[in-house]
Amino acid sequence: MPKPSGPELMERIVALAKRRGFVFPASEIYGGLNGFWDYGPLGAQLKNNLRDAWWREMVECPPLGPDGHPLTIVGVDSSIIQNPRAWEASGHVAGFSDPMVDCRETKRRYRADQLLVLCPHDPQWAGAYFAYEQGDPEPALKAARRVMGRAVELDAFQTVPYLELAEAKREQVMAPGATRAGTLTEPRQFNLMFRTFVGATGGDESVAYLRPETAQGIFLDYRNVLDTSRVRMPFGIAQIGKAFRNEVTPRNFIFRSREFEQMELEWFCAPEEAGEWLEFWTQRRLEWWQSLGVRAENLTLRRHSAEELAHYAKSGHGTYDIEYRYPFTDPGFGELEGIAHRSSFDLEQHQEWSQTRMEYFDPETRRRFLPHVVEPASGLTRGVLVLLCEAYDVDESRPSPELLRFEPRLAPIKAGIFPLVAKAGMPEIAEKLYLEVRRRHLAQFDVKQSIGKRYARMDEAGTPFCFTIDGQTVEDQTVTVRDRDTGGQSRIHLEQVLPYLAERLG
Ligand code: GAP
Repeated sequence: MPKPSGPELMERIVALAKRRGFVFPASEIYGGLNGFWDYGPLGAQLKNNLRDAWWREMVECPPLGPDGHPLTIVGVDSSIIQNPRAWEASGHVAGFSDPMVDCRETKRRYRADQLLVLCPHDPQWAGAYFAYEQGDPEPALKAARRVMGRAVELDAFQTVPYLELAEAKREQVMAPGATRAGTLTEPRQFNLMFRTFVGATGGDESVAYLRPETAQGIFLDYRNVLDTSRVRMPFGIAQIGKAFRNEVTPRNFIFRSREFEQMELEWFCAPEEAGEWLEFWTQRRLEWWQSLGVRAENLTLRRHSAEELAHYAKSGHGTYDIEYRYPFTDPGFGELEGIAHRSSFDLEQHQEWSQTRMEYFDPETRRRFLPHVVEPASGLTRGVLVLLCEAYDVDESRPSPELLRFEPRLAPIKAGIFPLVAKAGMPEIAEKLYLEVRRRHLAQFDVKQSIGKRYARMDEAGTPFCFTIDGQTVEDQTVTVRDRDTGGQSRIHLEQVLPYLAERLG
C-alpha cells in the first residue's frame, strides 16, 4: 500500500487516529455532534506535549529579542465566560460573523465566502454557473459535464468567488449536489458566538458568551498583570485554552471544529515598534513550527489582503498567516497560525467601554501611551492535526505498514519496553527497566503477542524507541534498541537506556 495523497490520505489519517485512540468523534454512541471531537489517550498526550512545547517557548524560556536579550512574557489562565460587555467592546457581538447560504434543494449550508463558481469560457454556456466548496471542485465539474454534455476539465472555466458574482448571476448558480440552478438562498450573516445564560433566571439580561478567542481574556487581565508583575514594555501575555465558535461548516476533521483550543500571545509594545515586532514574531513562529519537525516545504507565509483583515487589524501593519499543506488543501495550503498587528484596537475599546485607563506609563521616558499589540495566534488542536499529517507515513516492508514519525520529544509514548517472551527472567528485567524509565519519560510495558506485532503497535502510536529484553540480556545485561524511523536495531547496556533516551529526547 503506497502512501496516498489528497482525500485518501486524509481518510487514512482519520482512520488511524480513531483506531489508535488519538481522536474520536464526540458523543459517538449517540451519533456524534458535528464539529465536536474527543482526544483519546494518545491524542490527549500528543496535545499536551504540543501545548507544553508552546508554553516553554513562550512563557518559561521566551526567545531572545532582536537586541539579543531575553523577552519578557508571562502567562495567564482566564475565564471562558466573561462579562458580556467585553464581547460588545471587542466587536464580536456585532461583527464576529460569517456569511452563509443554504441550498433549498439539498438542505446543505455553506460559508458563502468559501464557495467558488466555475464559469465556462465557451460563450455558448454563458450564464451557466457551477458552485463548489473551496478545495473540492469535483461536484461542480460533474454538474458541468452533465449540463454541457461533454467531458470538460477545470481549464474550460474561469473560477470566480461566489460573493463576487453579481446578484442576478447568483440566481443562475447550481449548488454542489443540486439538480437545478437557483437553489441557493441570499447570503445571511451568521454570528459565530455560542450564547449561554448565567444564573437561574435565564432571561435576556443573563445572556453570556463562550469565548470565541482566548485573546480577550488577556486584554481584560492586562491592567492586573501590569499592576502585579514587574513587566515593562515591550512584554507579552500568553494563554492557552478552549475557544468556541458555532462554525457554519465545521469540516476537515479537527481542522475547523466548534470547540477547539488556541495558544495565543498578545505582545504589547510601543506603537512605532509594532511593524518590526510583526516581522520578528512572524519569522520566529515559522521557525518554531519547523523546530517541531514540520518540513519547510509544507509551510508557507501568506500576507492578508486589505479586504481580508479582521475588524481589529484593519488599521495596522497587517496580518500574516502561517499556512500548512494539509492533505485536503494539497497542492495548496490552509491556515495554521495568524500573526496580526491589532494596533491599540482592543485596549482602546475596553478603555472606552469599561472606563478603565489602559495607558502605559514609561518611567524612563516619562511618556504615557496606549500600547500596540502584535498577536501570534495559533490553534493547539489544529496544530495536533498538522503533527498527525506531517508524521503519517507508509513503509510497505513493515508488518503494519502505517507509522507516525513524530519528532521524538512530541511523541505521546517515548519508549516501548518488552520482554521478548514472558518467561526465563525476561519479564522481571523488563518491568524493572520500565519502572526506571517511566519516572522520566512516558513508557509502555507490553508483553502481549509477537515482538513484530508489538513493534507495529508502537509504530502506529509513533513511539520513537523500543527496548527488548531477550535471552542475551539475562547473560550480559544488554538490550535491543529499535529505532522507529529506520527499523534498525542495535544493542546497548541496560545502564545506557536512560542516557540514550536523555540524549535523544532532551
Ligand atoms: N485571536 C485571534 C484569533 O482568534 P483566528 O485566526 O480566528 O485569530 C487563530 O484564530 C487560530 O485558531 C487559527 O489560526 C487556527 O489555528 C485556530 N482556529 C480558529 N478557528 C478554529 C476552528 N474553528 N477550529 C480549530 N481551530 C481554529
